Amino acid sequence: ASIMVLNGPNLNLLGTREPAQYGHETLADVEKLCADAAAALGHQVVCHQSNHEGVLIDLIHEAGQKVKSGDMLGVVFNPGAYTHTSVALHDAIKGADVPVIEVHISNVHARESFRHHSYISPVAAGMVVGMGVQGYVLGIQGLVSKRT
Ligand code: DQA
Repeated sequence: ASIMVLNGPNLNLLGTREPAQYGHETLADVEKLCADAAAALGHQVVCHQSNHEGVLIDLIHEAGQKVKSGDMLGVVFNPGAYTHTSVALHDAIKGADVPVIEVHISNVHARESFRHHSYISPVAAGMVVGMGVQGYVLGIQGLVSKRT
């Protein structure tokens, strides 16, 4: 089956954006890591990135349809700063009934207090925080072990 790897705002800047926080790998490097990790488990990834909340919501709805039809296992999702602001993404995940593994490259709990609250965690199937870009791989492995 497929796995959606979904990245939210500013994650297109990976590699150059705050490397002390997010490392030197680019989004393309991360997507390649994910493709290899999924392939090793007999699955494929579909990768998307958007800076727009509504586009992310549409993609979650799309994933929900694919999960229902059995074509998709779920979504490995780094919502970026929308993690801390978006009731709409919370509602989308709940409404689409889609298994989501929430990923944060950095340890958000060791950072500013405005990063400590997540609207996504209460509707996530699991979370990977502070493991660097390897967190996406761990998220894929976790989703596969939960869903197969
Ligand atoms: C992030 C953490 C968020 O607080 C931040 O806004 C991001 C990236 C992470 O991967 O560590 O954009 O989700």
